[in-house]
Amino acid sequence: MAESFVFCCVLLPLLSLCGLWVRTQDVPPYTEDCRSGTYPPTGPTFKGNVSWYTINLDSPPQERWNQIINDKKVELANMIQVVKDLAKAFDPSGKAITLVDKNLPVLLESLPCPFDDEIKGIAKTSGIPLGEIMMFNIFYEVFTVCTSIVAEDKTGRLFHARNLDFGLFLGWDVKNSTWMMSEKLRSLVVNIDFQRNKKTVFKSTSFAGYVGILTGIRPEAFSLTMNERMSLDGGYIGILEWILGERDGMWMGFLTRAVLENATSYEEAKSLLVKTKMLSPAYFILGGTKSGEGSIITRARESCLDVWELDINQGRWYVLETNYDRWKEPLFLDDRRTPAMKCMNRTTQEHISFATMYDVLSTKPVLNKLTTYTTLMSVADGKLESYLRDCPNPCMPW
Ligand SMILES: *[C@@H]1O[C@H](CO)[C@@H](O)[C@H](O)[C@H]1NC(C)=O
Ligand SMILES: *[C@@H]1O[C@H](CO)[C@@H](O)[C@H](O)[C@H]1NC(C)=O
Ligand SMILES: *[C@@H]1O[C@H](CO)[C@@H](O)[C@H](O)[C@H]1NC(C)=O
Ligand SMILES: *[C@@H]1O[C@H](CO)[C@@H](O)[C@H](O)[C@H]1NC(C)=O
Repeated sequence: MAESFVFCCVLLPLLSLCGLWVRTQDVPPYTEDCRSGTYPPTGPTFKGNVSWYTINLDSPPQERWNQIINDKKVELANMIQVVKDLAKAFDPSGKAITLVDKNLPVLLESLPCPFDDEIKGIAKTSGIPLGEIMMFNIFYEVFTVCTSIVAEDKTGRLFHARNLDFGLFLGWDVKNSTWMMSEKLRSLVVNIDFQRNKKTVFKSTSFAGYVGILTGIRPEAFSLTMNERMSLDGGYIGILEWILGERDGMWMGFLTRAVLENATSYEEAKSLLVKTKMLSPAYFILGGTKSGEGSIITRARESCLDVWELDINQGRWYVLETNYDRWKEPLFLDDRRTPAMKCMNRTTQEHISFATMYDVLSTKPVLNKLTTYTTLMSVADGKLESYLRDCPNPCMPW
């Protein structure tokens, strides 16, 4: 069992990274000047709107995803096939996938409610083996790289925006220079309105088949995004430990979902995100309703390393996170932080809005080949908008 995970989650990414080193040498750093006037979205970097679905939290967990999965069955099967093909390229015997099919379903029992039943329901409706749906859910815990920003305007109104970049290390399609994963994932992006008693509890931009949350808003309370934090004691070790039986940590995407579902204020959300023991490290980016309510929470698995908050008196009117600790330099190949900050600084607090934040997130390399969607949220009026993205050449691979 552990063997297949070492393979899928450690060896595979490392091998693809080695392959990439060669390629990145001939990719110039496609940075560009801060964009403007990109909103409302049009043109070649806009791939389409995201459709809305409703999930009724009063219905049994096994049935909640039926409508979405019925609509997205084929896309989900295609996506999982890409993962399997990739695995096969490195393991022609197909042993890794057999292990996934045979062993992951057993582990489902140890997932907390309602996630176990929701995953079972998704497998049943899609006709895809349970182990492969589990694997699909685990992948988001490991391969999500992104940019998230919370900013406050001059009137104290908060905006929260993010690019979701997915698929790093998962395979570079040399033929058409497109990250295969990101390509397949776009067709799985959905906006979901989670309701109880026919009233919205929270909304999210999500991937059909994934039961956790990477991007969400609880109207009039808080907005929340999660970015991956790569670290030596990182995801792989947490996931391996969980497989080997140490199961008291929480999946990151399940924690964000639980917080959106059950916390009712910025402070309550912050406290849960700071304190809950997790399976892997992460960055949580949290926005609220009142001036100063914006923070980046840097988490190790068992402890909180840093909470960095808005501080208007100090001139800190936005907080921004990519995938590196704020007190460290980003990986030189992957500095999205400096260009994003440069464009935020140039925008100024006077002019911050959905439109100008979309501009920042449309500037290369903040926008890159992995960017799957851009989401804009404003808690005060409960608004969530998201757009599918593309980054035609010339464009940085990440
Ligand atoms: C996206 O939605 C907007 C607003 O509803 C609409 O004007 C636009 O035509 C849509 N674009 C695409 C590509 O569907
Ligand atoms: C890139 O190639 C893959 C398979 O080789 C194909 O599925 C995909 O549609 C191609 N993408 C584009 C944009 O041509
Ligand atoms: C939220 O709380 C309800 C009631 O306590 C519980 O049934 C549900 O599982 C919780 N949601 C999550 C995602 O933990
Ligand atoms: C942006 O502004 C902040 C605050 O003035 C400053 O600390 C930071 O260095 C600036 N960053 C860039 C890239 O311009």
